Amino acid sequence: MLSFLSKQKLTIGLDIGSHSIKICELAEVGKKMKLVSLGTAQLPAGVVEDGELKDAEAVAEIIKKLIKNLGIKSRKVAISISGYSVIMKKINLAVMTDDELQHHIQAEAEQYIPFDIDEVYIDYQDLQTNEEGEERTDVMLVAAKKDVVNTYIDMLNSIGLNVVVVDVDAFALENSYELSMGQEGNVILVDIGSSKMNINIISEGASVFARDVFLGSRQLTEQIQSRLGISFEEAEDLKICAQDPGGQVGGLEETFASACTQWVLEIKKALDFYASNYPDAPIDRMVLSGGGVHIRGLSEFFSAEANLDVDVFNPFVATTFDAKKIDRDYVAYLGPEMAISTGLATRKVPF
Ligand SMILES: Nc1ncnc2c1ncn2[C@@H]1O[C@H](COP(=O)(O)OP(=O)(O)OP(=O)(O)O)[C@@H](O)[C@H]1O
Ligand SMILES: [Mg+2]
Repeated sequence: MLSFLSKQKLTIGLDIGSHSIKICELAEVGKKMKLVSLGTAQLPAGVVEDGELKDAEAVAEIIKKLIKNLGIKSRKVAISISGYSVIMKKINLAVMTDDELQHHIQAEAEQYIPFDIDEVYIDYQDLQTNEEGEERTDVMLVAAKKDVVNTYIDMLNSIGLNVVVVDVDAFALENSYELSMGQEGNVILVDIGSSKMNINIISEGASVFARDVFLGSRQLTEQIQSRLGISFEEAEDLKICAQDPGGQVGGLEETFASACTQWVLEIKKALDFYASNYPDAPIDRMVLSGGGVHIRGLSEFFSAEANLDVDVFNPFVATTFDAKKIDRDYVAYLGPEMAISTGLATRKVPF
């Protein structure tokens, strides 16, 4: 069938984080996207860890309730994975036809990834970095462990949801950015979640560097907890109430500064790598998302350390919504955390 004749439908974006579930539903209205529903539900500690499902039943129950509360009817969901079970790698190959490339990846993937080839799902995209007449191009290769992906699929099937797209966090973030900002500029996208940060550098409309780092906002809570000898919940409350990274709460300035410094070091590593490989296309700005953005003063700290303009990401700037049904302040507050789920909600599948 000719592809322009096949009907396409948007999926429900479902981001299963280690701190909370986020769901986003979009609809196409003319040339614009409309936000139909969004919501989050916090997860008990430990049910999702390091990008893996530890307690599938508990997570399934929470997702089921959230979908019901939001009144979502579609059963087709797009999910993303990240963490130790995913490898994203840019490889440089001779320019090939689509068929040749598929063949090459199937035959040679083993040499690029540290997993047993039978145990992973593989996907790739030719980044078409070759200029006219050049013979080599960059290809982004992604491998994800089948057993980890399958636990998510099985868990969602158990509550009647059909997983139609499995993406990775960093690329969902990129789709989210494109939805709101188009392809303008060279940017570094940074999502600071609870247990990890995703870094994705977009240069001239394509992702040229994508990496997950296993540092996140939970680390800060744990450091506060051990420093003050209090419970995780008390430490979490203190973190959320603190005024800024150099804040006044309980002498925690150093704790904030040390966590934020570790994060910015990872960002600088990515920026250095990029600067040496793409010296002619400097980064214009950093775009921050994830629950970590709520740490007061974080943008300013990153901006000063990385010497870049930093924006807090709002994935809904180019999206309409019915302000009678969805509260404007809620959308604005939740925007940064919804970045990945929104990117997932832009994915289309035939129906
Ligand atoms: N107002 C706030 N001030 C400070 N931190 C906050 C605030 N709100 C949320 N956070 C922190 O943000 C983190 C949750 O962010 P997010 O929802 O992006 O994580 P996640 O997607 O569930 O986790 P991950 O992607 O790492 O698996 C938690 O550590 C939480 O403490
Ligand atoms: Mg997350």
